Amino acid sequence: MSHSLTRIAAFSAAALIGTAGLAACGANDTGSDTGSGDGASADGGGTIALLLPESKTTRYEAFDKPLFEAKVAELCPDCTVDYYNADQDAAKQQQQVSTAISKGASVVVLDPVDGNGAGGMVADAQSSGAQVIAYDRFIDGADYYMSFDNETVGEMQAQALVDAMGGSGDILMLNGAPTDPNAAQFKAGAHNVLDSTDGVNILAEFDNPDWSPENAQQFVADQLGKFDPSEIDGVYAANDGQAGGVVAALTGAGVAADALPPITGQDAELAAIQRIVAGEQAMTIYKPIKIEADKAGEVAVALLNGEDVGETTDYNGVASFIFDPIVVTQDNVGDTVVADGFYSVEDICTSDYADACEAAGLS
Ligand code: GAL
Repeated sequence: MSHSLTRIAAFSAAALIGTAGLAACGANDTGSDTGSGDGASADGGGTIALLLPESKTTRYEAFDKPLFEAKVAELCPDCTVDYYNADQDAAKQQQQVSTAISKGASVVVLDPVDGNGAGGMVADAQSSGAQVIAYDRFIDGADYYMSFDNETVGEMQAQALVDAMGGSGDILMLNGAPTDPNAAQFKAGAHNVLDSTDGVNILAEFDNPDWSPENAQQFVADQLGKFDPSEIDGVYAANDGQAGGVVAALTGAGVAADALPPITGQDAELAAIQRIVAGEQAMTIYKPIKIEADKAGEVAVALLNGEDVGETTDYNGVASFIFDPIVVTQDNVGDTVVADGFYSVEDICTSDYADACEAAGLS
């Protein structure tokens, strides 16, 4: 697992550095033409802090970080990205923001562990003269916000689950961390669909405090003390990490891998894409993270330069950029994550998945 992730990260970074090298020539030309005089501007370098919330979800270290760094390097070769990961610890993240400010960050790109509790960090950064971009998770009072349409994510997951169950069934529901504002949106979107679909019954529901696969596995194992696996027609898991925990609990209780009920997910993690190809997970949500990380890099450099960030949309009073999520099932793995270069067929079709890949037309 960690070997594959390292490989993905290396692959992403290498692919991007190639592109960045080309694009940086253009950026340099433009920079010397415009000749901004601000000492903290992109022309003279500048520091952008990037603060991500955790590392159990693979996207942050494998995609968000390298993609963001590559975009900033492309647009502003002299800029520094000061990176922090909070490991799901809100107090640690607060300390990291203070450190970033004291090191002179002019722009703070913050994906908060605790969305509601992040106002103080925004105020601290702003009072030091920095501007704050709320990255992926909304923060009231931020200067900018970017994310995917999170309520639609929840609706897509739930609809895919209902469809995979044939229209109705008894389900377990595993939501994300209550401190993550996105989790509330995924949950609300999912409930919109589940609560209005006749014949769907939620046997038990769980808000996972840290999104962890371990908690998800434990929750399902506990439910298997109350329900026979045959009574569970489907599982709404808000993300792929939890879906992995659900699969571990069910197979650990003796359910055969080819007899698992439909299970949802999110993030298009490599392990989830492999489970989808193998028929062990019904779907995931693919968020083309490059779009989001690129936009964050562009906005951060524009802010350093005092330039316009382009057209925004209003989200709860914050100038925002909202992107579209994509459903991935066994039918469209090739047309989505593979076509986009998010994973290669070789990444997905390791020896354990060779037969499933061939059956799915992916080899
Ligand atoms: C959310 C994020 C998701 C995912 C989730 C944990 O905030 O939008 O992509 O990372 O946390 O899986």
